[in-house]
Amino acid sequence: MAKDTVILTGDRPTGRLHIGHYVGSLKRRVELQNAGDFKKMFVFIADAQALTDNIDNPEKVRQNVIEVALDYLACGLDPEKITIFIQSQIPELCELSFYFMDLVTVSRLQRNPTVKTEIGMRGFESSIPVGFFTYPISQAADITAFKATTVPAGEDQKPMLEQATEIVRRFNHIYGETLVEPNILLPQNAVCCRLPGTDGKAKMSKSLGNCIYLAESAKEVEKKVKSMYTDPTHLRVEDPGHIEGNTVFTYLDAFCKPEHFGLYWPDYQSLDEVKEHYQRGGLGDMKVKKFLNKVLEAELGPIRERRKMWEQRIPDVYDILQAGSEVAEKKAAETLNDVREAMKINYFDGDFALKNIANILMTSFRASDIVGRIGGDEFVCFAFIDDLDFPKTVQAKIQELSNELNETCGKPYYIEMSVGVSEFSCDPDIKIEDLLSQADSALYSNKRYKRMSVLK
Ligand code: TRP
Repeated sequence: MAKDTVILTGDRPTGRLHIGHYVGSLKRRVELQNAGDFKKMFVFIADAQALTDNIDNPEKVRQNVIEVALDYLACGLDPEKITIFIQSQIPELCELSFYFMDLVTVSRLQRNPTVKTEIGMRGFESSIPVGFFTYPISQAADITAFKATTVPAGEDQKPMLEQATEIVRRFNHIYGETLVEPNILLPQNAVCCRLPGTDGKAKMSKSLGNCIYLAESAKEVEKKVKSMYTDPTHLRVEDPGHIEGNTVFTYLDAFCKPEHFGLYWPDYQSLDEVKEHYQRGGLGDMKVKKFLNKVLEAELGPIRERRKMWEQRIPDVYDILQAGSEVAEKKAAETLNDVREAMKINYFDGDFALKNIANILMTSFRASDIVGRIGGDEFVCFAFIDDLDFPKTVQAKIQELSNELNETCGKPYYIEMSVGVSEFSCDPDIKIEDLLSQADSALYSNKRYKRMSVLK
């Protein structure tokens, strides 16, 4: 990570978070947050994305916004260090999505493997909500609105990041460097990418009832560990057992630390030793499960305690979300200004607004104000900004100024529509006032011309 890193990630609030989310992403986020090696870090609750397939169940999404916020705080995400916000509170994301939609084709969306799988899972077939189908576009807006460089997420989010990158490239290609290309930050540990359910099924999922939730009591966790899927061929203690596909061992791979042996199971020095014994035969499932339960408790106990504390302070949690959403909206609004400027749809605001430029040219300029000599060449200093479509009347005014100069000076002066910025400054984002004062000092240092008045 570097100091200019902007980290951003989010979750759909469709259910409480479970330990799959924890090892897959939450834990890493807390580590990233505490390492502090970034410019900004945003974590958000993607409620608008959750609505794309839950539009008839807004109450579920609403309830889970607070559940997910509690899970965040419980895991140790700290609103003093990062910005936690709610997606739907940032209207700029909709606007950005609207423009992005013009940069993506239907067939490109149809090729997104994650969306394909999700459509299948939800049985949408031909009745896919447009919002759901296009959520990779809105996700690109989530990422780019904050100029995120780094998106910690699971393997399944890769197609979304690819889509976002394509949008950024296409946008920047058409409108100039404006948006930032994001990179996905995958979990370090392969086991953590996809923690299986307690039943050994591929993924923890609420509908399969195979999750261990962060909010769950120690008793419930113990019960789930006791009934966890292991090795169906390991019938008697003395039978050799299998590690592969054995959920208890997969969970140990994800959670167990070397110090856990000294603390909870001094008979063994390492997980490898336990595995070896199990495979050899003579180690019963119950013993391993007991150990796993302690290992889990070591990690989940403190999370559970913090969650209980925040549950007593729900109004504070809403305050945190509101304050975070305000901060996030400011940032998104900044990006939107850049986007509008790049797309030249900022008709009414900013220093470069057509109205302002037209005004300056129409009302304030005298040819004598802008004659200059730099180096050996006498020339008219500048007109502003290249390739803005000046209205005809403004173009006529420029022509008029040019004629006036030619007449008074008898030399082929020219007004160049495009030089202005580059004659005096290499910074294309320079403000008009600064440009004028640069022009002013350039001319003044020439001593032959009277000081320019800085025009407003
Ligand atoms: N799609 C993500 C999920 O299902 C949530 C999400 C929405 C997200 N916008 C994002 C994640 C931007 C990372 C970056 O969990």
